[in-house]
Amino acid sequence: MAGMYSFLQMLLLTSLGCIHCKVVSRSIDPPEEVVITDPGRLGNLEITWSPSQQFARISQEEQCSLLYELHYYATYSDRWTRIRTSQTSFSAQFDLAQEVKVRVYTLITGACVDGGTVKSQDYTEVVQNPDVTGTHGIQELACVNYNMEHMICNWTRSPKMPRRAQETLFYWHKELAHAEECPQYIISNGIRSGCNFSGTYIPTFSDVNLCVNASSSEEHIKPVYTSLQTQNHVKPKATPKINVVMGPDRQLRLSWDCPSGRIPEHCLEWQVEDMRGGHDGKQALITPTETAVNLTLPEKETCCLKVRSRLSKYCASRSLWSDWSPPVCYPEDNPLTSSPGRDLSPTFVFITITIIAALVLGLCGWARLSLRRSRPVKKTDPSFPTPFYQK
Ligand SMILES: *[C@@H]1O[C@H](CO)[C@@H](O)[C@H](O)[C@H]1NC(C)=O
Repeated sequence: MAGMYSFLQMLLLTSLGCIHCKVVSRSIDPPEEVVITDPGRLGNLEITWSPSQQFARISQEEQCSLLYELHYYATYSDRWTRIRTSQTSFSAQFDLAQEVKVRVYTLITGACVDGGTVKSQDYTEVVQNPDVTGTHGIQELACVNYNMEHMICNWTRSPKMPRRAQETLFYWHKELAHAEECPQYIISNGIRSGCNFSGTYIPTFSDVNLCVNASSSEEHIKPVYTSLQTQNHVKPKATPKINVVMGPDRQLRLSWDCPSGRIPEHCLEWQVEDMRGGHDGKQALITPTETAVNLTLPEKETCCLKVRSRLSKYCASRSLWSDWSPPVCYPEDNPLTSSPGRDLSPTFVFITITIIAALVLGLCGWARLSLRRSRPVKKTDPSFPTPFYQK
């Protein structure tokens, strides 16, 4: 019974396996000698290999084409990627802080295999291990492309970082012959915490590789790598102003301007929030994200709204939200019931400081007056307290 079953299974597998190929009886060798070289492009590695002896023989046969199939583990996208090429080299993107793994197969196609494709059973593999020594001193390297105008990358130090170490950032993209250093470091508390790329050309829709490493006389510090495309890190500028008018049909109409800059209007999608919220007290999102820059609010006579934007999925695979616009209410004197204490308005802060200052001054004056009274009285008119700076 079991024998019968496995026979059927084999029959099924054989027939399924050969729907698209007529001949699979040729065995081919994988290529020889796969080599990975690092040309200093911060993770863009060059993979080269050489054909097997057999390959050279087959390529002389008529109607036979030879190809290579490369499988590599793309560390940034966390998956295996495969490409086919007739060349004997290929460059691909890797995270140098992780294991680099590449497998190369040989393929024959053409009339010599009855129009099918035959792939070598085996592959030639090369694995390159990352440098695991060193201190994890640098953390969280992240970049924001402000309004598509200038990019800033920041990192943080872990507590393990020696105090006297100095960070350096290098970047590379395909228009640079070699990696270059950060054009302008951002310094906070005397240490380098970021890089400002404003005024430096960085391409869009192209990989930009970044590395932050550090030199220290005390210990070896592990470099941190990342690879990004700048259009996926955009944070649009906040909308400066929202206009609200009551239309003749007693419906509130909002409109706002697109922030000026390099982001095309059709790339922005919007979110509008009613800050006074619904019955449950939650602040309600009025619209789903949309690309229109106006909105009609039916069945609403008052509102307090703010707007923010981000790049839509048609223009970038992800985006950061802009800051919220300044809130606007209709009618204008409608008090905002944003949660108290979360944002202190400058007027409130000013008034508080004035009251505290008046109290302190008053107290000082009173203390001085009462001190004077307790001492033997000199020739001072008691109704005019002496100013503080007088001796
Ligand atoms: C940091 O990386 C750059 C570019 O790869 C390299 O030239 C430099 O020597 C490195 N510095 C340290 C301290 O490792």
